[in-house]
Amino acid sequence: MDNSGTYFVAGALPEAATPTEPLPPWTSTRVVGARLPRVDAYERVSGTAVYPIDVVLPEMLYAGILRCPHPHARVRRVDLSPALALPGVRAAIGPDSPGADIPWYRAQGRAWSRLLDRHCRHQGEEVAAVAAETPYQVADALKAIAVEYEVLPFVLDEEQATAPGAPPVHEGSNRVGEPAVYERGDVAAGLAAAAVVVERTFRTACELHAPMEVHGSVVRWDGNRLTVWDTTQGVFAVQAEVARALGLPLAHVRVIGHYMGGGFGAKLEAGKYTVLAALLARATGRPVKLFLPREDTFLATGNRPANRLTVKLGAARDGTLTALEITSLGAAGAYPASAAATFMATELYACPNVRARDETVFIHAGRARPMRAPGYPQCAWALEQAMDELAGKLGMDPLALRLKNVPRTAQRRGNLPYSTAGLEECLRRGAEAFGWERARRARPGRATIRRGVGMAACFWGFSGGPPSTAIVKLFSDGSATLTMGASDIGTGTKTVMAMVAAEELAIPVERIAVEHADTGTTPYATPSGGSKTVPTDSPAVRAAAAAVRRQVLELAAAQLQRPVEELTLREGRVVTPADPSVSLPMSALEGLQRQGVLVGVGTRAPNPEGTVTIPFAAHFAEVEVNTATGEVRVLRVVAAQDSGRVLNRLTFDNQTLGGVVMGLGFALTEERVLDPATGRMVNANLHDYKLPTMLDVPVEMACVAIDRPDEAFNSTGTKGLGEPATIPTAAAVANAIFHATGVRVTDAPITPARFLAAAGGKRG
Ligand code: MOS
Repeated sequence: MDNSGTYFVAGALPEAATPTEPLPPWTSTRVVGARLPRVDAYERVSGTAVYPIDVVLPEMLYAGILRCPHPHARVRRVDLSPALALPGVRAAIGPDSPGADIPWYRAQGRAWSRLLDRHCRHQGEEVAAVAAETPYQVADALKAIAVEYEVLPFVLDEEQATAPGAPPVHEGSNRVGEPAVYERGDVAAGLAAAAVVVERTFRTACELHAPMEVHGSVVRWDGNRLTVWDTTQGVFAVQAEVARALGLPLAHVRVIGHYMGGGFGAKLEAGKYTVLAALLARATGRPVKLFLPREDTFLATGNRPANRLTVKLGAARDGTLTALEITSLGAAGAYPASAAATFMATELYACPNVRARDETVFIHAGRARPMRAPGYPQCAWALEQAMDELAGKLGMDPLALRLKNVPRTAQRRGNLPYSTAGLEECLRRGAEAFGWERARRARPGRATIRRGVGMAACFWGFSGGPPSTAIVKLFSDGSATLTMGASDIGTGTKTVMAMVAAEELAIPVERIAVEHADTGTTPYATPSGGSKTVPTDSPAVRAAAAAVRRQVLELAAAQLQRPVEELTLREGRVVTPADPSVSLPMSALEGLQRQGVLVGVGTRAPNPEGTVTIPFAAHFAEVEVNTATGEVRVLRVVAAQDSGRVLNRLTFDNQTLGGVVMGLGFALTEERVLDPATGRMVNANLHDYKLPTMLDVPVEMACVAIDRPDEAFNSTGTKGLGEPATIPTAAAVANAIFHATGVRVTDAPITPARFLAAAGGKRG
């Protein structure tokens, strides 16, 4: 399905290892499902956790990147010598230096640029790099490099890119590949049969990921072996790309990503900064630290592309959908990336006649990367506002309209049934928790300040799968280490995986240490992204712990002279439920003492065939709008989430509320602003790029966890959460604004100016 490929960076999905025996579902749990604080909470909040930017190595140099200030330019001349003449500067590389021609931005069977390319296609494109003894000397050296640019004409948005005579970003047209068209049934017939039709065009803004942790690496060579401390969601993806770029065997590139300060999709791939740091480190024989200033992360580490979406819906008098047409035009930035945004519309509601078209174009701005549910919040913004409008035209409650059209099967995927289908339950239980019926009936009134409520729904299109391998080691005192390749990108992965192992081993979470995200020491994992880390990796973790558990029970059976079937584990002991006299601490197992450590390896079983497994959500929002100033306050949000079994209710709520807050930014404040005259981003900083802050977060936010284990899907019964928690929020807010004011604002974010413009237009 679209976008899923973005989470498996190194080409095709690797084959799964032979899965270990499938495990029966848990019948009851002691640890899993509890509200437990994170295993590394203290380290994270106290500042003692060592993130990559905190790594300091003996003899380490600092490095920085010189970037093109223009949206489109050709580098005529670069003179590195003034920089190299400065005190403390140890190396500088430019477009003619060895390594500068490493192919970069590979797509459609070719590379679209080089590590340091003379042709710069966006502001912030890498031109040169330096290494020096101190960060200040780096800054001076970057200023000293003399560059002569030939400034070229540019296109900044999807309309300019497709206008006749537009400057091409690459040779040929500005289209990134051919438009993707999906069709089922007969849309024209469906529209002809409709009693009511709505059609509207929407636009979403380009958003930046803005994770708290900036991008960067610390690198060190040992002979021809490279170690990288990297800010990444996937150490194995970075290993593969860095090894390929530098022509090294995979085994000679070790990538470590222990603590990680958020990525949201901006850290799924290797950065040029890592390879530049490695080249500078090789040139100087010294370790190198290269971290991006915040401004550079806004320019060159990805974004959620802007989309222009047109939705046309037809429905019968009773609300049954008869036709759905959606087209999207998205801007990938200067290099190939997906700006597709229509997939969700083709499966969220039951509809026999559907047409969807996605077109992506190049512009002279930083390239898009996946960003928390790539394409889906954009799709929800358009589809769920159109559904709201359709409900209005039909005189139906928006919730009732959605309930009328809940799909029974995955209509685009062979009409397969969902292994668990929580959309209806999210709609019903979310509405109940929110008090939808009553809130919706309240009349907004004619006062200047008006309140209203709105809702929207979503799914996220997949839930991961193999490969995943985990290792559990049980020590002779009954404590254990869990070793896994997955990164904890701030979501609590280490915590919930430790809980899964603790459940299976019947020991407290405090007795488990987690080793993770290190290509040198942990088994392979795909990047943490796509809301798939828990459903992909937790079954492997469970299987690894179960393999240890089996060995413990077998050793105990031999020692106690009892059949293994009579034995089980409880609170760190081997017990016989039928005979209370049998109670042996694991540390008293003779076999364990002799062996020192028991090792269990778990691999994830394949997904079942014949079903589709995806998470669902429905969000409800109440807003207050000042119709004189256009100011919007979000008063409360309820997020109902069907993500299968809840492993830890604290981290579940945390993920959900974080997703909601990100959705509020999409709805109201976040937007990359490019100056039409210069083509430069004018708000590449955290002051002018408006992320929601504590003051923008509603006091009342609540999460309704459906918490129904998806037993058929995997051995932990889990589905994804991170992305469905943000997809429908913005549309729910826009619908609430309409309910409050009667003003439909089609363009995100709904700034006061946009609201007033739309309100003025309505007044004529
Ligand atoms: Mo992602 S877009 O890191 O799930």
